[in-house]
Amino acid sequence: MKNTDKVNRVVVIGAGFVGSSYAFSMMNQGIAEELVIIDLNKEKAIGDVMDLNHAVAFSDYPTKISFGDYSDCKEADIVCICAGANQKPGETRLQLVEKNLRIFKGLVNDVMESGFDGIILVATNPVDILTQATQKFSGLPRHRVIGSGTTLDTARLRFMLSDYFKISTSHIHAYIMGEHGDTSLAVWSTATVGNMPITQYLKQDESYQMENLDEIYENVRDAAYHVIQKKGATYYGIAMSLVRITKAILKDENAILTVSAYLDGEYGAKDVCIGVPTTVNRNGIREVMELNLSEKEQEKFTHSVETVQNIYREAIE
Ligand code: 2OP
Repeated sequence: MKNTDKVNRVVVIGAGFVGSSYAFSMMNQGIAEELVIIDLNKEKAIGDVMDLNHAVAFSDYPTKISFGDYSDCKEADIVCICAGANQKPGETRLQLVEKNLRIFKGLVNDVMESGFDGIILVATNPVDILTQATQKFSGLPRHRVIGSGTTLDTARLRFMLSDYFKISTSHIHAYIMGEHGDTSLAVWSTATVGNMPITQYLKQDESYQMENLDEIYENVRDAAYHVIQKKGATYYGIAMSLVRITKAILKDENAILTVSAYLDGEYGAKDVCIGVPTTVNRNGIREVMELNLSEKEQEKFTHSVETVQNIYREAIE
């Protein structure tokens, strides 16, 4: 791992909507001292760097932002990969697998050839599959290759529950687990509002109904389709999710986030990367938190694991 006395450097690969929104939020929040942006389309990356630098004077944090190449990964603490094709309206995340695997093979190789020895954060879809592929292509310890997983889905769930109950998002503790995609699940059995189990909180008011929570889950699951239908892409939500994970790493927070992590027996699953609550700190993933899932939730989770595993094995092995 990089030594922590020097300034923190984050390299962003891919200056599309997601990468540039991530860079903008990183600069706004002063999460890293140095940001380096790499893109195949150099003009776009240089333009972004110029534009972001023009905003630095009004940020509370003097982030150093530059255009770079793969050799800049050598000194990076985190490489955040946002490059690749994204979904067209109606397309599922899993349909992107072949295109993006091809891109990742060369790209991860270029990162590693620089002598990089930090943490890779993967955002590109299908994120669970690309996270596991990045672990394989990079040869890095598995706890240092992290996918955004269901961090964004969990944020969407917390927002929608907050809106429903009129309670601050920071007091809604509820997770989406599983594939960042159509087979994800909401873990209602352990969800709480403040300290109260959500199932008990529902009894506070007769207008609260379990069916409404099921609808909320469906809206979370389909949120990306709805946004892509309307504006062609999603990027602010995923960008802030990536910033949240980056912050947990660089500030050594031991934050619990539903990132895509490699499972080795947890939840009865092996050899798969998938969204689960994990503790994230300066070393990457410290541990996977094993929730006491209900029988039905465990069934759904197992189905999600099998879906991701089948696609990964078909594509890679
Ligand atoms: C999202 O959920 C498309 O994975 C992206 O916004």
